[in-house]
Amino acid sequence: MLGGPAANLKPDGYRLKTIDGKIVVTGSNDRGVLYGAFTLLRKVAVGEPLANLDERQEPRVPVRWVNHWDNLDGSIERGYGGRSIFWDNGASRADLARVNDYGRMLASLGINGASINNVNVNPRILAPDFLPEIMRIADTLRPWGVRTVLSVDFGSPQKVGGLNTFDPLDPKVIAWWKAKTDEIYRAVPDLGGFIIKADSEGRVGPSAYGRTHADAANVVARALKPHGGLIFYRGFVYDNKMDWRNLKNDRARAADDNFRPLDGEFDDNVVIQIKNGPIDFQVREPVSPLFGTLRKTTQAIELQITQEYMGQARHTVFLVPMWKEALDFDLRVGGRATPVKARVNGVVGVSNAGLDDNWFGNHMSQANLYGFGRLAWNPDLSARQIAEEWTRLTFGNDPKVVKTIADMQLKSWRTYEDYTGPLGLQTLTDIVGNHYGVAVEASERNGWGQWHRADEKGVGMDRTVATGTGFIGQYSPAVARMYESVVTCPDDLLLFMHHVPYSHVLHSGKTVIQYLYDSHYEGAEAAGGYVREWKSLQSRVDERRYQEVLMQLEYQAGQAEVWRDAVSNWFLRASGIPDAKGRVGHYPGRMEAESAGLDGYKTIDVTPWEAASGGKAVECPAARCVATFRYDGAPGIYRIRVRYFDQSNGAAHFRALVGGRVLAEWTADDRVPTRTIDSSSSALRAISGIMLRPGDEIRVEGTPDGGETAALDYIEVVRDEN
Ligand code: GCU
Repeated sequence: MLGGPAANLKPDGYRLKTIDGKIVVTGSNDRGVLYGAFTLLRKVAVGEPLANLDERQEPRVPVRWVNHWDNLDGSIERGYGGRSIFWDNGASRADLARVNDYGRMLASLGINGASINNVNVNPRILAPDFLPEIMRIADTLRPWGVRTVLSVDFGSPQKVGGLNTFDPLDPKVIAWWKAKTDEIYRAVPDLGGFIIKADSEGRVGPSAYGRTHADAANVVARALKPHGGLIFYRGFVYDNKMDWRNLKNDRARAADDNFRPLDGEFDDNVVIQIKNGPIDFQVREPVSPLFGTLRKTTQAIELQITQEYMGQARHTVFLVPMWKEALDFDLRVGGRATPVKARVNGVVGVSNAGLDDNWFGNHMSQANLYGFGRLAWNPDLSARQIAEEWTRLTFGNDPKVVKTIADMQLKSWRTYEDYTGPLGLQTLTDIVGNHYGVAVEASERNGWGQWHRADEKGVGMDRTVATGTGFIGQYSPAVARMYESVVTCPDDLLLFMHHVPYSHVLHSGKTVIQYLYDSHYEGAEAAGGYVREWKSLQSRVDERRYQEVLMQLEYQAGQAEVWRDAVSNWFLRASGIPDAKGRVGHYPGRMEAESAGLDGYKTIDVTPWEAASGGKAVECPAARCVATFRYDGAPGIYRIRVRYFDQSNGAAHFRALVGGRVLAEWTADDRVPTRTIDSSSSALRAISGIMLRPGDEIRVEGTPDGGETAALDYIEVVRDEN
């Protein structure tokens, strides 16, 4: 029902009311009715009583959009759930059934717009003959109240328009944007608008003509204005060729430095789309100071649903608690309570869902899209409520299932932070490569500016006003005061804000170095705990998903150990300060492959060295190789853990034997994002219930395949817990 008792609701709002045993759904507009109907279904699914419904719901912000970084060839930049649902081979996908499903899913969450192509734009998106492709997708999303949005290249007037310039102040360029926009709106009258990434990471922008971002945004805004369209102009502008030797240089400053002087110069249909943190979706960042800086400019927060720096959907990392911290952060603008959520008019999430059955390559990662939608609608919902709702809707209402999964989700961000980059170090991943595996120094000595500046004396970026880059001064005085002093700076962000010696004592009472060691052990331990927790749900969750999630969690637990060992050894070498608990560098039961009896296998140095135990591994340059380890411990039943390398360029075969008896054989054919022997390909095979006596020979045989050389890192003989 439209209008009536809901007429005074904000756009997209709705009311649910039980009247004479009937449930009436009213909405302020078509979308409101649709959203009300989905809410009703949710209530039915989670078992809420419906007898006396009387609920009004309004979205906090009008713009609740997802972005897709999908390329027209069907690949997805930073997508981990298969190929694009929108594009294939340079055109819209022949079968758009998944787009229809996706539109329905977005509607069920109150999401009302989706950009359908990468911010690193293929300019062809605006070619005249491409319009029918866009129309097909828009027609599929429209019934679900989802407006189509396009990422556009700022150089389009030249690249597709054939002009000799894209100078935003040139009359030909102004006319081109207007004509092009009119043309698109004739085909897609409800287009939400455009997104532009300009002067960033190699994309062209107004700097080519000495113009400002306001000049750039406004020329497009004026073309969109008559159609009610918006331009989302990204605040993600920085110089990726900065001189790292200059201790005053700081990428974190870039957004504020670029946009502060332009506040007030943007047209009213320009929205500055600002990533939650000042760097780039790291495991922990402070909020971008720009949220507090812009007073006369409309802004939206950009969150990343796809887990680019968060384990890429191979690790369970539920991002809602992190997003809530950002949305709730009090910027103290003008000395008054100013949560980020009160500053933004839009919430945008980089979704990158793909064709995989479960959209994201992992069942648990779906909770992030769900949580994004729920928070975009109402940022005051608690993370627990969202986690529980999602679990009920996804796995049913069994209280043990709900509690176990929700608890796991809720601690998963902290766990991931603990075994990757705690204390504000950022994720410590390979930032110039796949953004997945560990590579502590990948961020250093290059222009990308994700520096942590760890050396033999200390660690952290000095961003203070007093002695550092001055970044902290971009916040309001109250927030700046808190971050400027190590006394008041929260431990979680200490190394983002300050450079301190390893012996610096945290508020927790631990030294920085001991915290780094402890958090990595605690994180890896917690990830191992997920496997046990999940196993308690066997037969309460359908078998297929039970097994799939189990495999994913076991893999994650194994990777958490790689991270633990790599980061803790790296900091041990850098600082020279041993782990007070004696763990780092000491691995009972571990036997290095390079120290085994090798038949055919050759020892190699692994890069980066921390990616392999002892910095070395063995690889097989022949048709088949053998590593033989001699067991000299006490007799008993053990688990043998084989750490090997599983790259994406082959499917090597392994066999493990004791005394000639085959214990296990397997093929290394996992989908991992690397072709080389490094931390991303490091993989674990655990073989339980093995009887060992002193003098036994444990053999691992490797048969290479393609570019994969059946490389081995070590084996470990540990007590069998099962
Ligand atoms: C990150 C990401 C890129 C992306 C960019 C952006 O740097 O790694 O793939 O293009 O963000 O947000 O524009």
